[in-house]
Amino acid sequence: MTADIDINGARLLGRLDQFAEIGATARGGVNRQALTELDREARSLLAGLAATRGFAVFQDPVANLFIRRSGRDDRAPPLLIGSHLDSQPAGGRFDGALGTLSAFEVLESLEDAGIETDRAIEVVAWTNEEGCRFAPGCMGSSAFSARAIPAEWPDFVATDGAVFGDELRETLEALPQAAMRDLGMPVHAYLEVHIEQGPSLEKDDIPIGIVTGIQGTRWLQVNVSGQTAHAGTTALSYRRDPLRAMISALDTLYSTVMPQDESARFTIGRIEVEPGAINAIPALARCTIDIRHPDPLAINRLNVTIEQCFRERAEAQRCEVLFKRSFDMPPATFPEKLLTVLERAAEGTGLATKRMVSGAFHDALFVNRIAPSAMIFVPCRDGLSHNEAEYTAPGHVVSGARLLLQSTIELAKG
Ligand code: GLV
Ligand code: MN
Ligand code: MN
Repeated sequence: MTADIDINGARLLGRLDQFAEIGATARGGVNRQALTELDREARSLLAGLAATRGFAVFQDPVANLFIRRSGRDDRAPPLLIGSHLDSQPAGGRFDGALGTLSAFEVLESLEDAGIETDRAIEVVAWTNEEGCRFAPGCMGSSAFSARAIPAEWPDFVATDGAVFGDELRETLEALPQAAMRDLGMPVHAYLEVHIEQGPSLEKDDIPIGIVTGIQGTRWLQVNVSGQTAHAGTTALSYRRDPLRAMISALDTLYSTVMPQDESARFTIGRIEVEPGAINAIPALARCTIDIRHPDPLAINRLNVTIEQCFRERAEAQRCEVLFKRSFDMPPATFPEKLLTVLERAAEGTGLATKRMVSGAFHDALFVNRIAPSAMIFVPCRDGLSHNEAEYTAPGHVVSGARLLLQSTIELAKG
């Protein structure tokens, strides 16, 4: 059973183009990292569009942005729909923006059709989902669900040297028209549309993925320290080379972790050395490690293996190694009741679906801790995401938003 109303596909596709201009890269992608000037520009644009439609705009202390369309019973907890507006440094046009703008399109479509809902519907753009400028990821949704900003966050330093507390304040101040509200609130349910970021829907030629859960992620920061010394005069036996230790550990881990467990994911996204002189042995080698697995025990086991391997190789080079966990996200399972709502709505809309687990993490994982949450995936060309070439066809964009609209109408009932 579906309501006799549709989204405005042309408007949604136009909005995606409009937002993709903010931080557009030469290769057709987007670089709009969290809490930058460009992120503020995207937030302002969305807030302005909301104000034009007469929707109320709020932000909370971690700069989550909310756009509210009132319902008949305005005291009932709202239905929340949305995603994020920040991007990877070499990101695509759809990761995050698709879900946020699809949610906004749902609000506008309801407004255009003059449909009153029992409960309020709020669109949300969560702060710093990506976690690449400031770690951890999902800062906005995790602070929202914990109703607190961890005490250490304000001092966190970004990859570009900016301080989290300063960037957060400037972002909040850049939107004075948004009324301030407290962190966290009762939420009826949360829905998020997202590009799949993997190849599974495209491979099966299915337009919609119903996400049953999200695999776990852990991020480690590894610092190996040795001794900087002259490249020309320091013989092998005198060297304490942290980069050599790191490369030796990584070589072993690359050739064992994923080859031995096809559910495991092991990624080094960043390596830095100090002082970084062509003719000096580094004093310090730093890298990030991203570990993923659907089984939380496997993540613990992998973590132990990784630390042991680094310790051995550091010792062999007379170096020291330190580990810091910057993000830990156990796997999540979405409630069956919501999955059924999505599947029924898809059936009514004539859209084929398949159930799947998300390999990427999402804000829905954190919101699911305080309210039933679920996600709708649309296909991703060649499974390529966190890449400027990320793409989903216009028809898939429209299908995802259409399903979000129908599910929203169902869940907004009193
Ligand atoms: C999200 O951006 C992820 O890295 O899974
Ligand atoms: Mn995303
Ligand atoms: Mn992403």
